[in-house]
Amino acid sequence: MRRKFIAGNWKLNNNRRQTTDLIEKITAQSRDAKNVDVCVAPVFTSLQSAREAIGSSPIILAAQNVFYEEKGAFTGEIAPSMLVDAGCSAVIIGHSERRQYFGETNETVNKKILASLKVGLTAVVCVGETLEERETGKTNDVIHAQLSGAFKDVPSLEKIIVAYEPVWAIGTGRNATSQQAQDVHAFIRDLARKKYGKGAEELRVIYGGSVKSSNAADLLARPDVDGALVGGASLIAEEFCAIIRLSS
Ligand code: PGA
Repeated sequence: MRRKFIAGNWKLNNNRRQTTDLIEKITAQSRDAKNVDVCVAPVFTSLQSAREAIGSSPIILAAQNVFYEEKGAFTGEIAPSMLVDAGCSAVIIGHSERRQYFGETNETVNKKILASLKVGLTAVVCVGETLEERETGKTNDVIHAQLSGAFKDVPSLEKIIVAYEPVWAIGTGRNATSQQAQDVHAFIRDLARKKYGKGAEELRVIYGGSVKSSNAADLLARPDVDGALVGGASLIAEEFCAIIRLSS
């Protein structure tokens, strides 16, 4: 039985004060949730405040991005060990916004995963097709290419979570139907099975793209949907915690 994983991707929102406030609300409102991992991903400059606000609660702290080198002349970048130092135990890698606006490729995604695993971070690896790719029947090919690129030389699925986020569903209010999500999630698990065998049964494949409390139950009820990566709705404690409760 895979434990559900509900993550809030806060994107470019929330300064330190707002981070602390939101985490305090989430902690209070999700106290009774059981059998679910809760994760939040604030901006880099709020990570330390988030760590302090989380305190001894089991909320997992994630960063939204990382670089693959440990140190050197790479102005503006952050190393995996620095995320650990800031109190993170996970990192989102290859989000479609990073692929779209910041030149992230399957190759850099792969390097970031390898570097993050080396320091013990859990990698939340994002994949997903654009609307045009879906409409021209290329969804599975795109997911296949993204995953084989991402997992080159990755020895096992330990500390890996895959987030399926159809680009056309992110921030658009248009979520995939639970059947569309299930189909791609099952396809992802199948690919994982081919490469990693039994380890694929433990792999958590979470869905992202306009998840809110009103559509989460249907998505989370599907056998291969092991949680959610929530953007907009994760900025509202009541909404986020309602999704957490639906998973517990
Ligand atoms: P959204 O974002 O829930 O606002 O669509 C999800 C994501 O980008 O992770």
